[in-house]
Amino acid sequence: MKFAAPPYMLDKLPYPPERDSWRHVARWRAVERIFREVCRVYGYREIRTPVMESTELFCRAVGEGTDIVGKEMFTFTDRGERSMTLRPEGTAPVVRACLEHNLLSEGALAKLYYICSSYRYERGQRGRYREFQQTGVEALGSQDPAVDAEVVSLAMEFYRRLGIERTELKVNSVGCPACRPAYRQELLDFAQPRLAEMSEESRTRFTKNPLRMLDSKDPKDQAALDTAPSLLDHLCSECKTHFEAVLEYLRALEVPLVIDTRLVRGFDYYTKTAFEVTSPLLGAQNAVGGGGRYDSLVEELGGPPTPGIGFGLGTERCLLVLEELGVQLELDRETPDVYLACIGECARRAAVPILHGLRTSGIYAETDYSDRSLKAQMRSASKMNSRFVALLGDDELAKGMCQLKDMVGSEPQKEVNLADLA
Ligand code: HAM
Repeated sequence: MKFAAPPYMLDKLPYPPERDSWRHVARWRAVERIFREVCRVYGYREIRTPVMESTELFCRAVGEGTDIVGKEMFTFTDRGERSMTLRPEGTAPVVRACLEHNLLSEGALAKLYYICSSYRYERGQRGRYREFQQTGVEALGSQDPAVDAEVVSLAMEFYRRLGIERTELKVNSVGCPACRPAYRQELLDFAQPRLAEMSEESRTRFTKNPLRMLDSKDPKDQAALDTAPSLLDHLCSECKTHFEAVLEYLRALEVPLVIDTRLVRGFDYYTKTAFEVTSPLLGAQNAVGGGGRYDSLVEELGGPPTPGIGFGLGTERCLLVLEELGVQLELDRETPDVYLACIGECARRAAVPILHGLRTSGIYAETDYSDRSLKAQMRSASKMNSRFVALLGDDELAKGMCQLKDMVGSEPQKEVNLADLA
């Protein structure tokens, strides 16, 4: 029987594969390194949460009426008869952990970041997987629109540092529990007579989650809702003032953006600011990241009233865009410093402690374990791009020396005392 990775869950590989070089782990590390560095200068600390949580957490946080909870979660019953779900997103687990470990104190802002795998049972395609990684941040404890601007600009700075150009930042306000219900009703009244022309999906959303009809990419829905009332025209004064302040800050930071009154993200927890970053270089799955404010979520999950805002950025999609752009990431060096080529049984035996000594001195040292000819060992060293080759035969061994050959520079081969090799 042949085994394969689960559908739409990808192995990331130790060497650059011929196709899809973005699956080379070194590239992932490079992206993660840049994300960590950007988070560091913005003052965000890393948090790690388990890969699964109680199903109830996501039902409450993300919302029963959403696609994620309704049809995309990997849910199972564990051996203790608990319903568990592989995290479909990072925000709810972070809020849960903050409450469990008292990370939220009044008047203080908790600024957290994470790099985590997420799981959604979606129809797979390029850029859409069932296991994917998000780099995300959450800032909990402030209503200040300057925090919205900080979070958005952090995301944009990350793309800039990566070398991802031509992204589009779309921003909207989805209102709050004070102003949304009236808008929701107006939208329902507007859509009702047009339902027959709309897609099946939008008809379902009409009853379950009407605002999401606005987000539909189906041209039929877009035509039917073309003149629909706009959420932005229905914001209460608090949401309106907040949105204007966010825009003002972002303009002051010279972050280019478009206001997209149709942007309604697929989670029930959002209030006020919602944003998404897209790239024209991806096909249908063009969102490289998204986020927004969630001022009621902490309370919803049993905590004290605590506003929050954050984002999640898809690592696969970032890497796909980088590949499209041909951006050379700065990868960790994975080539040996020295390859110990041995001639004969004695040398091979002596090589074991020599290698150990080099490695414990922090030198990346390789050798051959297949008893191959010197020629074959030299070929290996050169294929691995080893910086040096140290040749060890009976003669050298007797003198406590080896022959050191520079594989890159033009320095002539020289004899080096084994004690000084490191
Ligand atoms: P989201 O928009 O569902 O938001 O996901 C964020 C990003 O994850 C997307 O923009 C996309 O790049 C990537 N992504 C989502 N689904 C997939 C998939 N199936 N395959 C590959 N990439 C995917 C959230 O998850 C929110 N928790 C973000 C947030 C944090 N809001 C506030 N704080």
